[in-house]
Amino acid sequence: EEPQSFYDAVGGEVAFRHLVHRFYEGVVSDPLLRPLYPEDDLAGAEDRLRLFLIQYWGGPNAYSAQRGHPRLRIRHNPFVIGSAERDAWLKHMHDAVVSLELPDDLEKRLWDYLVYAAHSMVNAPDA
Ligand code: HEM
Repeated sequence: EEPQSFYDAVGGEVAFRHLVHRFYEGVVSDPLLRPLYPEDDLAGAEDRLRLFLIQYWGGPNAYSAQRGHPRLRIRHNPFVIGSAERDAWLKHMHDAVVSLELPDDLEKRLWDYLVYAAHSMVNAPDA
């Protein structure tokens, strides 16, 4: 029998749906981040991030079935991401992570990954 995936441990699709929806609720009202995202397809952006995170944490591979290899740094090249954008992204993601009310060890694993990933997405030096 396979060990339980992190995806299952945190509550499967329902948890990731909640996480990413909550994150985009923050993005919508963020004057720094909102302009980076598609004006009329935030639902599409929400789908893409949710499917990526589900796949990353051991759930179904729908992200790659639809989008191919993630290549996330390359996909973020069109957007100027400095430390301010990174920190705004992480602020909304932190609110979203906390709202899941996970056990501490699971919350820490999820949050540590998101911090690491957000730092690795920075592609613009500070002025
Ligand atoms: C896409 C911004 C960090 C995962 C996007 C998009 C923007 C964006 C503007 C396009 C939205 C769309 O899909 O139409 C940012 C900013 C970040 C950040 C400002 C700050 C550091 C991250 C991190 C991850 C991530 C840390 C992963 C843990 C994704 C994914 C997509 C995406 C999976 C969709 C890629 C695709 O299939 O086209 N991001 N992002 N992003 N982002 Fe980020």
